[in-house]
Amino acid sequence: MANLHIQLHLVALFFLSSLILPSNCLPALHPKPPVALHPKSPVALIVFGDSLFDPGNNNYIKTTTTFQANFPPYGETYFKSPTGRFTNGRTIPDFIAEFAKLSLISPYLQTGHHEVLTKGVNFASGGAGALVETNKGSVISLHMQFNNFREANKQLRLKLGKRAARRVVKNAVYLISIGSNDYLNPLINNPSMFKSHAPQDFVAMVVGNITSVLKKIHREGGRKIGILTLGPLGCFPRLRLANVAAGGNGECLEQATALVKLHNPLLSQKLQLLQKQLKGFKYSYFDFFTVYTETIQNPPKYGFKEVKSACCGSGPFRGNFSCGGKRGVKEYELCHYPKDYLFFDAEHPSEAANFLSARLMWGGPSNVTGPYDIRSLFMR
Ligand SMILES: *[C@@H]1O[C@H](CO)[C@@H](O)[C@H](O)[C@H]1NC(C)=O
Ligand SMILES: *[C@@H]1O[C@H](CO)[C@@H](O)[C@H](O)[C@H]1NC(C)=O
Ligand SMILES: *[C@@H]1O[C@H](CO)[C@@H](O)[C@H](O)[C@H]1NC(C)=O
Repeated sequence: MANLHIQLHLVALFFLSSLILPSNCLPALHPKPPVALHPKSPVALIVFGDSLFDPGNNNYIKTTTTFQANFPPYGETYFKSPTGRFTNGRTIPDFIAEFAKLSLISPYLQTGHHEVLTKGVNFASGGAGALVETNKGSVISLHMQFNNFREANKQLRLKLGKRAARRVVKNAVYLISIGSNDYLNPLINNPSMFKSHAPQDFVAMVVGNITSVLKKIHREGGRKIGILTLGPLGCFPRLRLANVAAGGNGECLEQATALVKLHNPLLSQKLQLLQKQLKGFKYSYFDFFTVYTETIQNPPKYGFKEVKSACCGSGPFRGNFSCGGKRGVKEYELCHYPKDYLFFDAEHPSEAANFLSARLMWGGPSNVTGPYDIRSLFMR
């Protein structure tokens, strides 16, 4: 425990020094602000998704703590205390909000209904999936998140009137991260799922549900979607551990990679179709898989030292999801410099990794972000 305290102090020291020193040595560190915004009506950021985007909605789920991260050392590097975010600091939506000159986007369950859409709001829930069955009872599924959005939109119309409300919803940028849990849950807890479903059929079901929610957002008046596709899930520390448990040497878990390689192209195809079918629909696709795969192959290029093992957790690759001493495992290890790590815990990127993704989503290049980047979605 004493050792842990020293480590936490080092993390705090690291945080202080990062205020003084440049936080990274990559080019284009200060993304250009969006242009042509009407000063009276900022473009709102509205967020849906899973633990990659959850800013603390799950703190309000009283029935279970399975999918919560509101305890140390989560949040230590940036917020200095836990917020419910599943990382040591900021998430991708936090950085996107900063780049767009918006204030931090609040969890929906913290703010309630009133006027949340004008300022931007975050509906995401750790553990959530596109399928309602995924971690049912412990999370707010994508479909329930959409229902919360529709309710907020109703409140907005009552408050501002139809015309003004429509303008807010139309101008807003919608950021979405969903799908990982639909695959992680059966891969880790219920492999028999893949005995009863052919992988293609399962993937079509997940992507079908994402597509149907995108259509519903469009029907409510939303137009501009930024979507995080799936990362190389098989290379996340939790699945390297699963590989070890299955007698491997901790390579990326091939079964997971195979699912991602079916999911991302199908999603991309559906997005192209939606752009043709739905009036005014614009999207930004971020190739999370390729960016992380390239980072894992060449860590120094992106400023990382450790891309296999998590910063926080236990067991091989710290792939046992015990960061913070939850899930029945009291002991866990914590690295000194989370900034050097691609993964903070067994299933989640570090703040430094989130910064890398956010920067690429915000401003290209076109080999990883397209057809629009997020910055251009913020323009009118
Ligand atoms: C959505 O998921 C459900 C299972 O939760 C499935 O029965 C349904 O067919 C899926 N919808 C689409 C459009 O694929
Ligand atoms: C994308 O292009 C940049 C150069 O603009 C290159 O450095 C990078 O490796 C490419 N990334 C991928 C994932 O292909
Ligand atoms: C995580 O660690 C606990 C305690 O050592 C152990 O019981 C459990 O099996 C481990 N989980 C995995 C997936 O290795």
